[in-house]
Amino acid sequence: MNHLFLHCRPGFEKECASEIAEIAADAGVYGFPKAREGDGYVLYVTHEPDGAVRLMSKVDFHSLVFTRQWFGAVPLFDELPVSDRIGPLLTAAIESLPVCGDLWIETVDTNLGKEMSGLSKKFIHPFRQALKKAGRLSERSSWRLHLVFMSGTQAWLGAARIPNSAVWPMGIARLRLPRAAPSRATLKLEEAWHHFIPANEWDERLCGGLKAVDLGAAPGGWTWQLVQRGMFVDAVDNGPMDPVLMESGQVRHLKSDGFVYEPRKAVYWLVCDIADKPARVTSLIGKWVAEGYCREAIFNLKLPMKQRYAEVKKLEQRLQEKMAERDLRIELRFKQLYHDREEVTGHLRVLTPAGVIR
Ligand SMILES: C[S@@+](CC[C@H](N)C(=O)[O-])C[C@H]1O[C@@H](n2cnc3c(N)ncnc32)[C@H](O)[C@@H]1O
Repeated sequence: MNHLFLHCRPGFEKECASEIAEIAADAGVYGFPKAREGDGYVLYVTHEPDGAVRLMSKVDFHSLVFTRQWFGAVPLFDELPVSDRIGPLLTAAIESLPVCGDLWIETVDTNLGKEMSGLSKKFIHPFRQALKKAGRLSERSSWRLHLVFMSGTQAWLGAARIPNSAVWPMGIARLRLPRAAPSRATLKLEEAWHHFIPANEWDERLCGGLKAVDLGAAPGGWTWQLVQRGMFVDAVDNGPMDPVLMESGQVRHLKSDGFVYEPRKAVYWLVCDIADKPARVTSLIGKWVAEGYCREAIFNLKLPMKQRYAEVKKLEQRLQEKMAERDLRIELRFKQLYHDREEVTGHLRVLTPAGVIR
């Protein structure tokens, strides 16, 4: 496998390509990215024959900002016979890919992808049966087989390790908008939790009784998520909060400027969805963590029109430096979530032991 197939948000191929090229070079897996604006995917072609596998084993998938999902692929199937698409795909799976625990047929997140969804749905059952019969599917394998149709006769086939890839097909979080949530933005925070916080740590890090501050809270989609987890929230925003949410008794609405407000007592969570300059928001988050006002933060950064990858890297470095000045050991990651548009979501957590703030 010398191709790495990377799903990304359409329009962000350049960022996805720059990121993987830099990370691959750092990992010593040399090659070049191939990207076309609007395609919803990027390819990284490695010089060595099994470079995609080596790259996936050296890079933590969760550290990638602009890649939604990835898999190492064999070269494009360019002329699949319509009368027997399974034959060549099965041969390649037997000859070039590991035995897998599962099969996902994905599409790119574009109109082309929509056109391919009918074929993909029809194909999955017979292909799975053929793989099973050939002994290429085993529950014990930690690999997952991926197939993406680009047309009726063209497809990418490959595999990814289940623990080092996205938990959702195409990396798209299919979350249902809760009826009671005051805004659609609620899904951004829920997706961020799924992405940044391991499921077995939710009960400790997202538990009832924790205190939280939500900067730029109105009308209350993010606050609603915190309240659902049983937290007590100071919601800072000049705008109106959802009246039903306020009836929960767990929310205090503070009509203040989020850039000026400071908590009287430290809280566990800071969340911030203020649409402002990303450098300004980043420095606000840095201040909260450096001053010990919170232990974990999730924040949204609106990206500029140009140099978006460079901007994220610059802000990440600034935060790292600020934390290092204070000798704080932290975990810091960014991700362009499915529910983000021209944005990325950041997560900062203080690791230096200091007891849980409630
Ligand atoms: C995208 S909305 C937040 C949506 C919210 N997270 C939700 O889930 O419903 C951005 C909010 O930031 C608020 N805002 C903008 N500048 C602010 C500031 N300096 N301080 C506090 N809030 C601010 C706006 O009033 C607006 O309500």
